[in-house]
Amino acid sequence: MITRQRSTLSVPGHLEKMHKKAFESAVDVIMLDMEDSVPPESKKAAREQVIATLKDAPERGISVRVNSVDTPWCFRDAIEVALAAGEKIDSIVLPKVDSAGDLHFLSRLLDGIEAEKGTEHSIAIDASIESALGVENIAEIASAPRVRSLIFGIADYSASIGARLASISGHGENEQEIYPGHRWHFVMSKMVQTAKAHNLLAIDAPYGNFKDLPGLENAAKMSCALGFDGKWAIHPSQIDTINLVFSPTSEEIERANRILNAAKSSPLRGAVAVDGRMIDRATVRLAQKLVDSVQR
Ligand code: COA
Ligand code: MG
Repeated sequence: MITRQRSTLSVPGHLEKMHKKAFESAVDVIMLDMEDSVPPESKKAAREQVIATLKDAPERGISVRVNSVDTPWCFRDAIEVALAAGEKIDSIVLPKVDSAGDLHFLSRLLDGIEAEKGTEHSIAIDASIESALGVENIAEIASAPRVRSLIFGIADYSASIGARLASISGHGENEQEIYPGHRWHFVMSKMVQTAKAHNLLAIDAPYGNFKDLPGLENAAKMSCALGFDGKWAIHPSQIDTINLVFSPTSEEIERANRILNAAKSSPLRGAVAVDGRMIDRATVRLAQKLVDSVQR
């Protein structure tokens, strides 16, 4: 079961050795991948290995990524994994979602599988937005059945819009030299805004340069500041940094509690002063949100 999703580790589906490592890690969600980390000739082996791993998996946050709907693998990935081990997964990540139709297709398949099994367990869908068309159709994608999060797939999105591949790390590396401002601000803010309007999580793309932890921290801080709930990792060494950045600091928690206490002790006043700054009802709501996120 997923309780919070600061970090998500992408784990190649065909590499059993990495599955063990992932289950020993402190990651919030393990994402067993059958898509782009698996070469075409290993797709079947990856599906079989993912099912074997899921069957023995302990209770924790687990997703699987199927191939996109325009490939020969998607329908079998979804049907075989959901039939054999659907109760072990919280969600299916659907990559390269271009329109709500892609999600209706997967959701209908899951309706049938869950009805046949007679199970109460409903598999959610994480929609990965990786194209100009996906961003164009983002509101209908966010409203489609079973969707619980929107994911930013930056590498494929860059290719889709014809942006220069500045680094293999996604956003955050060498950006200042390339563009005065943040090249990804529009699409990232659009994703967060749409996700939150539909009560979904917003999850940021991974940072490819896994040896550069300060760079990862910088990229994670930027997406956290924009309102993303978490970020993908592609290497176990990235998990601690991501978890830390997406957890409130003890200082932030103390300040939020001071704000809530000040508001409680002056219930008749709209605005009060805390630490020399004006606190109004909006600030109190923000503080309450932060305290709630820690107690979850
Ligand atoms: N999940 C679980 N374990 C992983 C892992 C991952 N994503 N990436 C690396 N590991 C393990 C390795 O198996 C190794 O384990 P060991 O100590 O038991 O031998 C250990 O962590 C250290 O790995 P390292 O040697 O530093 O990495 P590498 O050079 O073997 O691999 C990558 C580097 C980038 C190829 C690899 O991390 C990877 O495949 N990541 C996932 C890629 C992916 O999912 N892409 C699609 C998502 S967008
Ligand atoms: Mg992609």
